[in-house]
Amino acid sequence: MQAAETLSSPAMLQIHPGSLKFGGTALVSLCMEAARTSKVPISVHLDHSTSASAIQQALSAGMTSVMADGSPLPYTENLTFTKQMTELAHSKGAAVEAEIGRISGSEDGMTVEEKEALMTDPDQAVEFVAATKVDFLAVTIGNVHGEYKSKPRLDFPRLVRIRKNIDIPLVLHGASGLPPEMISKSIELGVCKFNVNTEVRQAYVQNLKKDLSTSKSPDLVDLMQNAISAMQEVISEKIQLFGSVGKAHLHESPYASMLAGQRM
Ligand code: 13P
Repeated sequence: MQAAETLSSPAMLQIHPGSLKFGGTALVSLCMEAARTSKVPISVHLDHSTSASAIQQALSAGMTSVMADGSPLPYTENLTFTKQMTELAHSKGAAVEAEIGRISGSEDGMTVEEKEALMTDPDQAVEFVAATKVDFLAVTIGNVHGEYKSKPRLDFPRLVRIRKNIDIPLVLHGASGLPPEMISKSIELGVCKFNVNTEVRQAYVQNLKKDLSTSKSPDLVDLMQNAISAMQEVISEKIQLFGSVGKAHLHESPYASMLAGQRM
């Protein structure tokens, strides 16, 4: 939030289902309150949810977007799940991200054919978007969650073929570790949202370890402040790379109507 405010950028706070389970409605309220009172537009988004009840919980708590992630399911089941979740979310004025293809975290040892089989099929993507009415689509073009074990290789011709017949915003997960030129190329070819976790988390943990090793009885608030600054540095760099510096004024806060209500 501090990185986005300092750079006047809009941003999304993403809550992973594991975090939702751990932090419950208290965590959601905290994030929503931070978003509501921010100087820049911030939305609170449920990431990678395979559970209808978690999506229901997120929407009831007032989250404005969710990822209905049916990608572990066979294609037709993914389509049915995504369609149902999209109808539900739209009835509550929220937006939905979905995924076809399957992003991997452990593609080591896979053949090229096996990797390609997991990637988003451009023709299937067109049918999927038309049938489900999702608002943004996460694509799999060689991107992986976590650290890239070898040099990242994105299938840009595939991205071109996906973009050609789809006009909703495209999302790229696994943006940690992608070199700047791949980020720029992805933006040029239609990616509008990047998901970054690993690099931010590593900055927090590394800083925490360093402080713990050098201080005998550290204050928890100081520990957290330093770790937060380390995350802010990474996020600021990403915001600059993603080209959203100074664009806060182009977007309305998803909570603008609630804010207006509060001010009345
Ligand atoms: P990384 O952890 O690889 O940055 O991926 C994050 C992500 O895609 C979360 O949905």
